[in-house]
Amino acid sequence: MGKMTLLVMITLTVVILVLYENLHLAGSPLKNGHRELMQAVQLDALQENVDPRLLYQTTQVTVATTTSAPSSAWDHSVYAHRRQQCENTCVRLREGGVVRTTRHGNTSYCVVPKVGCTFWLNIFRYLYNDTGDRTYSSPYDIPRMVTHYAPLKRMKMYTINNTFTPPNLSTDLRFMFVREPYSRLWSAYVDKFLLVDYWRSEGQRIVKQRKVKANATTPINKCAHDISFREFAEFVVSMQPAQLNEHWKPIQHLCSPCIYRPHVVGKMETFAQDSGFLLEHMNLSWVLASYEHEKHVYDEMDMLIDYNFQLLNHNFYKNCTNATDIADRLWRTFQINGYLPEEIAFPQDKAVKLNATAFKGMVHEAFRHRPKKSPAEWRQQREGAMVAAFKQLSTDTLEKLHNLYASDFELFGYDPRPDSLFKDRMTNTTSS
Ligand SMILES: *[C@@H]1O[C@H](CO)[C@@H](O)[C@H](O)[C@H]1NC(C)=O
Ligand SMILES: *[C@@H]1O[C@H](CO)[C@@H](O)[C@H](O)[C@H]1NC(C)=O
Ligand SMILES: *[C@@H]1O[C@H](CO)[C@@H](O)[C@H](O)[C@H]1NC(C)=O
Ligand SMILES: *[C@@H]1O[C@H](CO)[C@@H](O)[C@H](O)[C@H]1NC(C)=O
Ligand SMILES: *[C@@H]1O[C@H](CO)[C@@H](O)[C@H](O)[C@H]1NC(C)=O
Ligand SMILES: *[C@@H]1O[C@H](CO)[C@@H](O)[C@H](O)[C@H]1NC(C)=O
Ligand SMILES: *[C@@H]1O[C@H](CO)[C@@H](O)[C@H](O)[C@H]1NC(C)=O
Ligand SMILES: *[C@@H]1O[C@H](CO)[C@@H](O)[C@H](O)[C@H]1NC(C)=O
Ligand SMILES: *[C@@H]1O[C@H](CO)[C@@H](O)[C@H](O)[C@H]1NC(C)=O
Ligand SMILES: *[C@@H]1O[C@H](CO)[C@@H](O)[C@H](O)[C@H]1NC(C)=O
Repeated sequence: MGKMTLLVMITLTVVILVLYENLHLAGSPLKNGHRELMQAVQLDALQENVDPRLLYQTTQVTVATTTSAPSSAWDHSVYAHRRQQCENTCVRLREGGVVRTTRHGNTSYCVVPKVGCTFWLNIFRYLYNDTGDRTYSSPYDIPRMVTHYAPLKRMKMYTINNTFTPPNLSTDLRFMFVREPYSRLWSAYVDKFLLVDYWRSEGQRIVKQRKVKANATTPINKCAHDISFREFAEFVVSMQPAQLNEHWKPIQHLCSPCIYRPHVVGKMETFAQDSGFLLEHMNLSWVLASYEHEKHVYDEMDMLIDYNFQLLNHNFYKNCTNATDIADRLWRTFQINGYLPEEIAFPQDKAVKLNATAFKGMVHEAFRHRPKKSPAEWRQQREGAMVAAFKQLSTDTLEKLHNLYASDFELFGYDPRPDSLFKDRMTNTTSS
């Protein structure tokens, strides 16, 4: 591949990045009255032609807040329970919005970032053959850069507001995916600040707050390379929910189930089962059948490596980081995600003159030779990293996070005070 091609690719990448940021601005949050909006969007609770397994039950159902994976016999009545939980909660909620939805066939999807949205956007991009200049034979092959940044040509994105409901939405089967709010916040931090993605955008807003706190005497660090989870969380709770970036904005403000009225609320914790059900409905069971976990992990790691190394072509990042630093951060991310064992440190000594290809080689090798551990042990590694991060927060910040995501906990049946994050702090919290 010649230098010319590479240059063109880099230029394109930058142009696409700029375009995407503008798109984000266009999707500004709704400020209108929530009830008004609920009335404007006259969506039937359920259509006759919908899968009978989803039929809404009128009796009150108590929803378990457990997140443990269900048994192999996946009970589809869980969707009716989740719908009921939303409907019960919606009676009391005031604010909310629906920012991005798309549809194909008779199925509509409401986008919530950080909850498998890359997977689902790829499904829709694939169905529309809307994948930039290339056609892909499987949704799994679509690169992350295309998923999130290639301009849309055939596939459409809709915002729901007082005067506009996307066409056919009322007869579509509607679905969305949600996630435990604390884990979504932590995952956003790792993706955007432990890795380098947001240093240039949101990171700048965070370091500006440092300036205010420090009396403007010390020069602020424009790189934003050292934002801790604690600083990030304090920044998040200092803002109004509607002003927050979509990666950590409460789901109620991104895709309010009170407005969108989903038939299926999928969860990150049961992603495979929920996606399987939906793909079957969409006549795409082969997609799930062709899923291979090992391949998925390699793809996921490669995508993150490619994406973060590509950012190094940007002048901002050239000033603020280097290939070794990025590799080190990716390595830690793969440990946090439970791909690489936490006991094997990033081999700094092998990291001279590192490029994406060479680093992939290192990561693949470490993954291939990872020690045998049970799924529970890998889960423990992931949860351990998260619990340790939340221990860095003050009780005050943790309480504010609890309030910020209060409607999400209730709508989607998550424990607002999980023992793992709250238990050692009980002395500082007043009972609610
Ligand atoms: C899609 O919706 C239309 C209108 O409600 C209906 O006639 C059609 O049968 C539906 N198609 C499928 C595949 O469910
Ligand atoms: C997909 O779109 C590309 C152009 O964007 C076109 O060249 C290709 O033929 C299309 N493939 C199919 C299967 O429609
Ligand atoms: C509602 O959405 C439509 C379509 O996206 C847009 O044209 C219109 O300006 C929006 N109205 C308000 C009040 O935001
Ligand atoms: C969407 O609705 C229009 C009428 O409003 C109908 O003509 C069209 O067939 C529908 N499309 C689908 C895919 O159901
Ligand atoms: C900011 O300045 C005020 C007055 O000069 C001083 O009292 C305060 O301690 C300073 N705060 C910090 C964080 O330096
Ligand atoms: C489902 O897919 C199969 C093959 O992929 C196709 O033959 C069949 O017509 C599709 N059914 C519907 C309802 O779209
Ligand atoms: C990078 O650093 C150089 C020298 O310190 C400076 O002149 C330049 O403006 C910086 N570029 C960016 C994008 O921050
Ligand atoms: C790369 O960045 C790290 C962290 O900023 C720094 O400690 C290291 O000296 C840099 N290495 C090179 C070769 O510039
Ligand atoms: C990446 O590094 C490897 C080993 O250091 C080298 O062989 C390869 O040519 C490099 N690739 C690129 C694209 O620079
Ligand atoms: C509990 O509150 C006390 C007094 O407000 C404070 O000093 C302490 O750091 C808090 N503990 C935790 C774990 O935040």
